[in-house]
Amino acid sequence: MRYTFIYCALLGYAVIFKFSNFVCESYNKSWFEFHECRLKAVSRERVILNMNGTILHPVNNAHTEGKVFKRESGFKPWLMESRVDACRFMRKSYNPIAKLVFGLFKEFTNINHTCPYVGPQVVRGFYLKPELLLLPFPSGEYMLSLRWFFDQKLQFDTNVSFVFVEDIMKA
Ligand SMILES: *[C@@H]1O[C@H](CO)[C@@H](O)[C@H](O)[C@H]1NC(C)=O
Ligand SMILES: *[C@@H]1O[C@H](CO)[C@@H](O)[C@H](O)[C@H]1NC(C)=O
Ligand SMILES: *[C@@H]1O[C@H](CO)[C@@H](O)[C@H](O)[C@H]1NC(C)=O
Ligand SMILES: *[C@@H]1O[C@H](CO)[C@@H](O)[C@H](O)[C@H]1NC(C)=O
Repeated sequence: MRYTFIYCALLGYAVIFKFSNFVCESYNKSWFEFHECRLKAVSRERVILNMNGTILHPVNNAHTEGKVFKRESGFKPWLMESRVDACRFMRKSYNPIAKLVFGLFKEFTNINHTCPYVGPQVVRGFYLKPELLLLPFPSGEYMLSLRWFFDQKLQFDTNVSFVFVEDIMKA
């Protein structure tokens, strides 16, 4: 029916896409130290993420292991798992999933440069913009776990959870 079609076209983009939890942990504080790792709700739809850490010695070899989990009575592995060479990615964004994730936050961080990495690593005021999410996925709560390795050794985790809700009733 034409009326229904117009209704969906108008409201189909009313989605909630926001952070729900953020956990950081360093496993080698002589190389990577966290000072801040925090979410802050600034409105009903918007939660900002702030992260502040320091790399204490230059890093020329870094990779991250990314995994996505979906909450279904506890977080269950969901779809994607990816290993990304961070130094190579910063020279050329060769991995499409990493490109998608990095595209969400590159404007909020100072890590948009090539290796070596050293000193302050900051993400400030990062919030999720539904319009930047190009993958259609089912409503629910997800966790993106990123485990960071320097010289092939695990240094720290940044695990972030977010909710994605197609909020058709609202709007
Ligand atoms: C982050 O998630 C991983 C699962 O990929 C888990 O093994 C690890 O313990 C989590 N780290 C923290 C600090 O919660
Ligand atoms: C911890 O960091 C130091 C640099 O401060 C490095 O030399 C060492 O290999 C790291 N150890 C592990 C287990 O990652
Ligand atoms: C990050 O933390 C360090 C150490 O506490 C502090 O000196 C610095 O100002 C912080 N940077 C930002 C951008 O918050
Ligand atoms: C980093 O930022 C510059 C300038 O905004 C941009 O040209 C470049 O593509 C960015 N790098 C990545 C890996 O996104």
